Amino acid sequence: MAILVTGGAGYIGSAAVEDLEKKGEKVVVLDNLVYGHRESISKNVVFYEGDIGDKTLVGQILNEYEIEACMHFSAYAYVGESVEQPQKYYENNFVQTLKLLEVLISKNVKKFIFSSTCATFGEPQYMPLDEKHPQFPVNPYGWSKFMVERALADYDKAYGLKFVALRYFNACGATERCGEHHDPETHLIPLILYAAQGKRESISVFGNDYPTPDGTAIRDYIHISDLSQAHLLALEYLRKGGVSEFINLGNGMGFSVTEVIEAARKVTGKEIKAVIAPRRAGDPSRLIANSTKAHEVLGWNPQFPEIEKIIEDAWKWHEANPNGYK
Ligand SMILES: NC(=O)c1ccc[n+]([C@@H]2O[C@H](COP(=O)([O-])OP(=O)(O)OC[C@H]3O[C@@H](n4cnc5c(N)ncnc54)[C@H](O)[C@@H]3O)[C@@H](O)[C@H]2O)c1
Repeated sequence: MAILVTGGAGYIGSAAVEDLEKKGEKVVVLDNLVYGHRESISKNVVFYEGDIGDKTLVGQILNEYEIEACMHFSAYAYVGESVEQPQKYYENNFVQTLKLLEVLISKNVKKFIFSSTCATFGEPQYMPLDEKHPQFPVNPYGWSKFMVERALADYDKAYGLKFVALRYFNACGATERCGEHHDPETHLIPLILYAAQGKRESISVFGNDYPTPDGTAIRDYIHISDLSQAHLLALEYLRKGGVSEFINLGNGMGFSVTEVIEAARKVTGKEIKAVIAPRRAGDPSRLIANSTKAHEVLGWNPQFPEIEKIIEDAWKWHEANPNGYK
């Protein structure tokens, strides 16, 4: 039996592929390489380049390999772009996921682990965010993920699909092999590290007048190894017959932009110039996860919650791979 990993050549998916392999699981990766990198996963992994919405291709994969479960990482994830090009996001993240699910269910593959996001919550009404928090996304990216969540709940009732939808907060860090190489890059930690490497002059701090201790926005940063472990636990949970669940995944700790920059200065020994810029529309002051349910249902506990360790691992990867996967 094998695990189909969509988006397995991407940042988080590649870390999960690495851990699945270490555990001796058989893995088949499907990625269209629009944003992923073939080099991020071992040559030994069975790899198909293509779209998850290509029903013929997915059907062929399912005919060839005995697929037990699907970990579905593939998506486009640029919030700003999703506002400008919603069609691209609804088509890729929602419509193509429905096509993937159609083929999986038709071949009786009914264990599904979905990369959802805290962006499905929208404007926070209380903190930390638990699973009961109302969901009303504020951008098409968040909606495209929320719509998949709704479809999963209905597919469970109608077709017996069993899923775990993991709502990640801010993924970060690296393993020795897998690191963050998005093009364009929009995430805070790699951008700070580019500034440390002299690839950019400074890092922009969007807003220093938030109601937080130092005025900069606070986020919950979660190491990709901890995310990956949550996927392995979710797989075991489904194997044991667990019911479908939506689960928030974060450290439960928040770090402000200034604290992240300070930690990066300490880890890298570089000055890292920070420039204050206006707030970005739709950026809440604080986003922190309540991950009690992840602990209770999956037995998940983050192993790398410290921001300095997260940055240290990311820094090691960026120093070892100054041009990313190129
Ligand atoms: N990075 C974060 O902080 C974060 C936070 C919350 C949720 N997520 C979700 O986690 C998942 C992985 O994120 P990531 O940061 O690794 O992104 P990524 O862009 O590095 O990886 C996504 C991968 O999916 C592939 N892909 C996209 N559309 C595809 C399609 N139609 N068919 C086949 N392959 C396709 C891309 O080529 C890429 O390799 C995404 O679903 C994202 O929405 C990420």
